[in-house]
Amino acid sequence: IADIQDDIIEELVTREQIDAKIQEAAAQVSRDYADKDLLLVAVLKGAINTLAAFSQALSIQVSMDFMSLSSYGSGTESSGKITVRQDLSTDVRGRHVLIVEDIIDSGITLDWLIKELKNRGAASVEVFALLEKPARHKVHIDVKYPGYEIPDKFVVGFGLDYDEKYRNLDSIAVLNPKVYQGDQE
Ligand code: PRP
Ligand code: MN
Ligand code: MG
Repeated sequence: IADIQDDIIEELVTREQIDAKIQEAAAQVSRDYADKDLLLVAVLKGAINTLAAFSQALSIQVSMDFMSLSSYGSGTESSGKITVRQDLSTDVRGRHVLIVEDIIDSGITLDWLIKELKNRGAASVEVFALLEKPARHKVHIDVKYPGYEIPDKFVVGFGLDYDEKYRNLDSIAVLNPKVYQGDQE
C-alpha cells in the first residue's frame, strides 16, 4: 500500500496556514450574518474538509447542505461540463446561501452553481473558497470571502483529489506530475 506522501513534491499551504485563513473568513462571516439565517452549501467532494473546519470556526448558528458536482473526472483539466452527482435536499428559495468551496480553477463550477442557486430563488449567494488559481480563470467569479491565491500547479490534499486519491492529506501539496503523466515515465 502506497504512503500518502510518496507522490508529493512540496507542501504549498501548511495546515497552520489553512486554519488561519479559515478562522479569518469564519470571523468575518460570523459578523456579516449575525442577524441572518445562513445556509452553507458545500460543493462535494472537494469542499468536505473546508466545510468541516470552516463551520466549526463559525460563532453563529447555520444550516448546512451539500451538492456533489464534478467537472474533472479523472483528468487534471476541467471538462467544462458540470455533472450533478447529488443535489441539495434543501429548497434555497428565500435563503441566504454561502457556498463553501475548496478551489476556484477555471471558475466554471462556481459560475454554474451561483447561477443555479439564484435561479432557484436564493435571497443572496456569496462564496468562500479556500484556494484560487488566478492564472487559470476562464470566467470571473465574485468571491466575497477569498482564500489563498496559488500558482498554476496541480495540487491535492485537504479535500482536493487527483483521480479520487489524496483527499485525506492534511495540507495542500503539489502532486508529482509523473503521477498523471503515467505512460511517459
Ligand atoms: C474540483 C474542485 C472544484 C472545481 C474547481 O472539483 O473541487 O469544485 O473542480 O474547478 P473549476 O473552477 O475549473 O470548475 P471536481 O470536479 O474535481 O470534483 P470533486 O470536488 O469531487 O473532486
Ligand atoms: Mn469540487
Ligand atoms: Mg476533483
